[in-house]
Amino acid sequence: MPIFFRKEEVTKLIKQTISSENSIGLVPTMGSLHKGHLSLIKQAIDSNDIVWVSIFINPTQFNNQKDFKKYPKNLAKDIDLIESISDKINVFVPNEKEMYNGMPKLQIYDFNNLDVELEGKYRKKHFNGVATIVSKLLTLFKPNDVYFGEKDYQQTQIIGQLIRLEKINVNIIICPTVREKNGLALSSRNNLLSNSEREESSIIFKSLTLLKKNFNHLKLESIKKSIIKSIQKNKKFKVEYLEIADSKTLQIHKKINPKKSYRAFICVNINHVRLIDNLLLN
Ligand code: PAJ
Repeated sequence: MPIFFRKEEVTKLIKQTISSENSIGLVPTMGSLHKGHLSLIKQAIDSNDIVWVSIFINPTQFNNQKDFKKYPKNLAKDIDLIESISDKINVFVPNEKEMYNGMPKLQIYDFNNLDVELEGKYRKKHFNGVATIVSKLLTLFKPNDVYFGEKDYQQTQIIGQLIRLEKINVNIIICPTVREKNGLALSSRNNLLSNSEREESSIIFKSLTLLKKNFNHLKLESIKKSIIKSIQKNKKFKVEYLEIADSKTLQIHKKINPKKSYRAFICVNINHVRLIDNLLLN
């Protein structure tokens, strides 16, 4: 399977692909791949002539150095997994110097308030780091389609805004969240949990499902509070947030407007491992 480390090599190939009128699908990742990532890659293969997967742990999107340092890495396994889908996928594995032309530097964007709540509130500048790297990748690969997972819903909306801001000509394809049997959303960070913590973490999706079931309940706020309490009965679990937000603006509204679409968003910290999930409520 072709693996590339240099932007220069990529640019050459992309030029050839575009001149032969083949379509390009791009799946940006930070590696430590699982079935969630693979579902994005499979979808990209179904709709494009050429598929690129990028693997790069982007330093500028980590506001916590400890989190960056302990982010799981397993390139050999990642390559095997990609190869198990097809040996025709191109993989791009740049280093920091290559990707940032030297020292990693953050670009600041106006996300039209999409970054004020949820992850944006708890991980300052995180989305500026995400947009900085995604902008570089879109410029390099010039894909027809770029693939993201619904698991990181706020990220998908931020990228939508980036594409509008920079007037990039690309379709953003949002793929459904892949879950374990017990409902836990697959995440590279799940590798940092013990088996029992992984089992106990099924409470995250169960809580979102419970909120969905009670969405029309008048006492939604008190239901939310009791859900947080029941998660934190487990002393290892700390709920960073559990919020209901407008699916489009990502603003948190205490009063529900039945004409609008809402999602529940959750972040739980388990022994310093942050797990996030979300669910469409109506
Ligand atoms: P990473 O966490 O590696 O995720 C890469 C892509 O896989 C993202 O679009 C993410 O939403 C998707 N994904 C992760 N878990 C998923 C699951 N269980 N089901 C479906 N899709 C899932 O997100 C990033 O990397 C980075 O921020 C990146 C966009 C690569 C920029 O650095």
